[in-house]
Amino acid sequence: MNRSDRTAALRRQHPKPPLYGKDLRLTREQAEARRSPNPGPFEEIFFAHHGRPANKWVHYLPFYDRALAPYRGRPIRMLEIGVMHGGSLELWRKYFGPEATIFGIDINPECAGRVDAPNQVRIGSQADPEFLRATVAEMGGLDFVLDDGSHIASHQRLSFEALWPLLAPGGLYVIEDMHTAYWEQWEGGLRRSGTAVELVKSLVDDMNGRYFDEDEAWAPYEEIGTVFTADSIAAIEKAARHAPAGHVWTDKPTPASQAG
Ligand SMILES: C[S@@+](CC[C@H](N)C(=O)[O-])C[C@H]1O[C@@H](n2cnc3c(N)ncnc32)[C@H](O)[C@@H]1O
Repeated sequence: MNRSDRTAALRRQHPKPPLYGKDLRLTREQAEARRSPNPGPFEEIFFAHHGRPANKWVHYLPFYDRALAPYRGRPIRMLEIGVMHGGSLELWRKYFGPEATIFGIDINPECAGRVDAPNQVRIGSQADPEFLRATVAEMGGLDFVLDDGSHIASHQRLSFEALWPLLAPGGLYVIEDMHTAYWEQWEGGLRRSGTAVELVKSLVDDMNGRYFDEDEAWAPYEEIGTVFTADSIAAIEKAARHAPAGHVWTDKPTPASQAG
């Protein structure tokens, strides 16, 4: 069977999921059935939550637990783009604890009333760099950005370009729902330049920028620490230290280790 026959056979077995909408909305029971065997704290908090509503793709829950473990319990400064019903901010407060500074932004003025102190909401667009910078100034800095806003390519890019320089070394920038990068209504299309998926791919090149003689990198390679990605979601870590790469041998063998 050649490659295209194999692809066709796989497509018959696993038809493409419908785009967004009711068909992908899981019942509580279906979601419970997809829980991780050993759920991390964010997943536990999500399924135990009874406050304002939040909606997450089930497979993001273990992703957050892996990507965010180093930040938990620290006085991190988080900005969530996209507040909607306000439940997500409540989840993050439970996850990060009382020391965290947690701000949400949304273009919908009704979201201003969907928050309880100490969490904060500011109203404005993620496509407005001045608004983003003013919000971060109020926050006193930035350690974690979660872009769950309009999911429109140019907005995601404008936010990234405004916020990445403000992110502290060691901070994390997460972009959710990157499947819109393939959909025209969100300025997407397969390999279309300017989408979040293409941004993430180019950051992989930038991260490895010391190994090629190119001057086209968007971000200096020393700044990109880790690019961690899964279905529709990516986390880009800003390097904590700008140490040049180098490799090292293990210690010399000892007589005891050679004897075995
Ligand atoms: C997917 S919802 C956010 C869900 C929320 N983060 C959660 O997990 O429950 C997207 C939100 O982004 C907001 N939004 C849309 N365009 C925006 C823009 N240009 N700037 C900021 N927020 C925007 C919408 O009003 C909506 O509340």
